[in-house]
Amino acid sequence: MHIQLLVAILAIATFGSASAQEGQACLSSCGNVAITFPFGSGEGCYHSRDFLVTCNLNQSSGESVPLLGESTIVISNMSTSKSEVEVMAFVARDCYNSSGPVDRNEPSMWFTDFRISAKNKFVAIGCDTQAYFSKRRGINGSSYGTGCISRCGRDSLITNGSCSGVGCCEVAVPQEIRSYEIELSSYTNHVNITEFNPCSYGFFVEEGKYNFSTTDLLDFGSVRKMPMLLDWAVGNSTCDIARRDADSFLCKGNSECDQDYSGPGYRCRCQEGYEGNPYVANGCTNINECERGTHDCEDECVDTQGSYECSCRKGYSGDGRKQGTGCTQDQSKLIKIVVGTSAGS
Ligand SMILES: *[C@@H]1O[C@H](CO)[C@@H](O)[C@H](O)[C@H]1NC(C)=O
Ligand SMILES: *[C@@H]1O[C@H](CO)[C@@H](O)[C@H](O)[C@H]1NC(C)=O
Ligand SMILES: *[C@@H]1O[C@H](CO)[C@@H](O)[C@H](O)[C@H]1NC(C)=O
Ligand SMILES: *[C@@H]1O[C@H](CO)[C@@H](O)[C@H](O)[C@H]1NC(C)=O
Ligand SMILES: *[C@@H]1O[C@H](CO)[C@@H](O)[C@H](O)[C@H]1NC(C)=O
Ligand SMILES: *[C@@H]1O[C@H](CO)[C@@H](O)[C@H](O)[C@H]1NC(C)=O
Ligand SMILES: *[C@@H]1O[C@H](CO)[C@@H](O)[C@H](O)[C@H]1NC(C)=O
Ligand SMILES: *[C@@H]1O[C@H](CO)[C@@H](O)[C@H](O)[C@H]1NC(C)=O
Repeated sequence: MHIQLLVAILAIATFGSASAQEGQACLSSCGNVAITFPFGSGEGCYHSRDFLVTCNLNQSSGESVPLLGESTIVISNMSTSKSEVEVMAFVARDCYNSSGPVDRNEPSMWFTDFRISAKNKFVAIGCDTQAYFSKRRGINGSSYGTGCISRCGRDSLITNGSCSGVGCCEVAVPQEIRSYEIELSSYTNHVNITEFNPCSYGFFVEEGKYNFSTTDLLDFGSVRKMPMLLDWAVGNSTCDIARRDADSFLCKGNSECDQDYSGPGYRCRCQEGYEGNPYVANGCTNINECERGTHDCEDECVDTQGSYECSCRKGYSGDGRKQGTGCTQDQSKLIKIVVGTSAGS
């Protein structure tokens, strides 16, 4: 049996060293991915070593591929406003032919400063399939494991799109997982079903990025990766402690430190009414609610820094808000008009 391990060891963080300096050649993108601080490519461009991006040229395709640190993990997207990064993670597989097992690949990953986001699902595909994932066994052994089971035959009602337990099963991913191992097993070595389902598969995938198809039972591709979301924080202290050192504190103008984040480390986000990258100076910019139509004004909308104001046309008064008192015609004017019309008639 051939067991491949995808191993991603990310170097222990070196804190507080580098920050983007003006004039330095920092890549703003690699392939289709925009690289934004605290991530960076090149010395002095990233916050700490965890956020190093290696931009690698694929000689055969001629494309630039961003990699997480010095690993082989491909970055497919990143968001500094949500403190998330999307990577391509290997799919585990366990394949059989009519005489028995033929091929097996059970990837594992571990991170120091990234966590597997709870916005992923763990999905298994197969008709003789037990898929299990666990936290990698540390010094004190594995402290967590879960998974799902799917068994079916050719005559089972297997439908496209729904991963409901027949041919495809899925489970939620708990919070705060920093490592995983996937284990696949079968009950009867896919006996009598190898023609339409030779393999079992298991993988993490960002919610909404995988729809089950019955054709995946026969062939899901020999080496396949799926987009998996990781979340991250900076430093190793809480908001309150980090804030005390203004020079190293990374939540810049018009941003705030996310008190709800359990840590270790802290996260920044733009204040309400602003959007952008909270980790760089002037990264959070004002949202123009009036232009965007996300305001609550009944009549006139005036944009302000971080908010907006509502006003009423001449002759109308109120707070101008649909959820508030709105705009009502002034009583004195109403009476005048009524008087005017009756006088004229
Ligand atoms: C390079 O590109 C080729 C063609 O798109 C692809 O088959 C191959 O897997 C890529 N290599 C790496 C290391 O990503
Ligand atoms: C990349 O991430 C951003 C921010 O979360 C999101 O708006 C965008 O749709 C993502 N792009 C892809 C291709 O998933
Ligand atoms: C099953 O796979 C093994 C190993 O690849 C191979 O030696 C054997 O001939 C295969 N059996 C059939 C029936 O295809
Ligand atoms: C292992 O368990 C011991 C005793 O319960 C504890 O002191 C130690 O911190 C644990 N180590 C890890 C890495 O969880
Ligand atoms: C599911 O969709 C694939 C194409 O995406 C199609 O080939 C297959 O026949 C469909 N299966 C069912 C049961 O409709
Ligand atoms: C496979 O098919 C044979 C012949 O129909 C049957 O005797 C056997 O019990 C089946 N095995 C399983 C595990 O379903
Ligand atoms: C999954 O199916 C939904 C509904 O049909 C569709 O909107 C979505 O784009 C599909 N996603 C993928 C990754 O194919
Ligand atoms: C973060 O942890 C490192 C080593 O664990 C320590 O040296 C450093 O002082 C810590 N930094 C903060 C801000 O707590």
